[in-house]
Amino acid sequence: MALMLRPATTADVPHLQRWDREPHVIAATTDDPEADVAFEDAVWAEEVSCDDPASAYFIAELDGRPIGAMQVIDPALERTHYWGEDCPPNLRAMDIWIGEADCLGKGHGTVMMTIAINRAFAQPAVEAILIDPLNSSTDAHRFYQRLGFRPIGRRLFDDDDDCLVHRLDRADWRFGEADA
Ligand SMILES: CC(C)(COP(=O)(O)OP(=O)(O)OC[C@H]1O[C@@H](n2cnc3c(N)ncnc32)[C@H](O)[C@@H]1OP(=O)(O)O)[C@@H](O)C(=O)NCCC(=O)NCCS
Repeated sequence: MALMLRPATTADVPHLQRWDREPHVIAATTDDPEADVAFEDAVWAEEVSCDDPASAYFIAELDGRPIGAMQVIDPALERTHYWGEDCPPNLRAMDIWIGEADCLGKGHGTVMMTIAINRAFAQPAVEAILIDPLNSSTDAHRFYQRLGFRPIGRRLFDDDDDCLVHRLDRADWRFGEADA
């Protein structure tokens, strides 16, 4: 099966909106048991067409079927300053979610991350990659740590998201062979 990671377009908005309602995606974005939507502030048509050069959304396609998404940002420059006003340069921060439940746990996330990390470190200035899974998402921690990410500390984002930030330094990455 061939997996590709391509830029998201407005044609992907229906997929992104549907994936926001998937329980496994909601569980990855909030500890609130009452939540019924993930990324509740996201207006996807605006997100995917945003002209911020420091932020990009990608869609993973498996044999032409959209199965999930990633966001890759430069956290020092990204317009919302999600990672804080004092975030150092030469980093990337990533988000990943597989929306199609029948595609979980089959290695696709590992391929998506490998492609995105290879692309990020292909830029010589990039020193490390940050990820902010919820502290409660122990499955996701195992997934990231298997790729070489290391936990660097708890941090609250958006006032109430209790996250365990992970970091992958360039020296800890062995370029994978998943890129198409
Ligand atoms: C996390 C995620 C991208 C991993 O991709 P994947 O294709 O399912 O995972 P892979 O098959 O490549 O690797 C398997 C590992 O992923 C993790 N994983 C599997 N299903 C998962 C799920 N529903 N949620 C979180 N992590 C999961 C586990 O660590 C698993 O390892 P294990 O066999 O030791 O349990 C994917 O499961 C997902 O999108 N989950 C929901 C959203 C999410 O958790 N995003 C990350 C939030 S920071």
